[in-house]
Amino acid sequence: MSSSLANGRTIPSHWYTDSAVLHTEIDKIFRRTWQPAGYVDKVSRPGEYLACEVAGEPVAIVRGNDGVLRGFSNVCRHRASIILEGHGCAKSLRCPYHAWTYGLDGKLLVAPEFEGVEDWDLKQVSLPPVRVAVWGPFVFVNIDGQAPPLAEVMGDIPAQVAELGCPIDQLHFSYRRDYLIDCNWKVYVDNYLEGYHLPAAHPSLFRELDYNQYRVDTFRYYSSQYAPIRPPRPGRDEPRRYSREDAGNRALYFWIFPNFMLNVYPDNLSSNIILPVGHDKTLTIFEWFTYPRNGQASEIAADTVEFSDEIQQEDIKICENVQKGLRSSTYDRGRYSVKRENGVFHFHRLVEEFLSR
Ligand code: FES
Ligand SMILES: [Fe+2]
Repeated sequence: MSSSLANGRTIPSHWYTDSAVLHTEIDKIFRRTWQPAGYVDKVSRPGEYLACEVAGEPVAIVRGNDGVLRGFSNVCRHRASIILEGHGCAKSLRCPYHAWTYGLDGKLLVAPEFEGVEDWDLKQVSLPPVRVAVWGPFVFVNIDGQAPPLAEVMGDIPAQVAELGCPIDQLHFSYRRDYLIDCNWKVYVDNYLEGYHLPAAHPSLFRELDYNQYRVDTFRYYSSQYAPIRPPRPGRDEPRRYSREDAGNRALYFWIFPNFMLNVYPDNLSSNIILPVGHDKTLTIFEWFTYPRNGQASEIAADTVEFSDEIQQEDIKICENVQKGLRSSTYDRGRYSVKRENGVFHFHRLVEEFLSR
């Protein structure tokens, strides 16, 4: 049944509270989309590698001697040990269990004391490839190999980010803060995708923004939020975080299905990665990148991080409350504000689309 925003219902509450649904989502959403997996500066030179886990799969990202960035299953073909940990630089990829050694191209080179094994050919053994793509500082991985190209998924985002003046290939990583939240990952994403909760839940942020102009625009696999800073009215609403000068500054907010957010400002970019840890536990990773100033790397201002933290604490409380409410036998599905919740509607329809494939 197709639905419009005006007659649509939110997704059923058990999709947020049932661990079996999360397992299906890992399979049908997280394995089938581009997932942020690490930073390209860790794997810029030949031999540099990065181990990560994407949708439950151990993955190794390796820069070859030919300069090509490749992804592999990080699982040894012998008896399934994890091969690489963390990041580093190596001439070959050596399993710590029995020292099977693979080339930077994933092909098995050495298997000690393996003579006499029948129906087995060292030359036929290699680590299964995993699809990787790079944008700016981010390395993305697509486990099932079937997602549309990253550039297609991101649509107009790179052009808009460039237009704002963000030098996406020269960003300096400055700071990371993690939050573990007692809610389903979709509760957090739902909350991010609407400004409807600003007046009641974020009084300090509400004072800074022009709520009447706040708008969410949806595209095939992403949405953007338009949230202009409101010029202060002298003598009437001090103190304000942002000044009159900031009011002219543009900012871009993007969410890319299912779990990656980008917040782009005239002098910094931050990413939020939303990772399900369990059906009712979510890790959110906030990272800040600065732009080079006069050729120098700079650090993110402490008050920028603190203001973000204040908003995040307000959102955490809301999200944990919602998770409790979703467990209630009295609630199943809700309705959307046509004016304010088109972004949530868009997300829910994408979730339905992927789960029904
Ligand atoms: S599991 Fe890797 S060498 Fe045995
Ligand atoms: Fe919020």
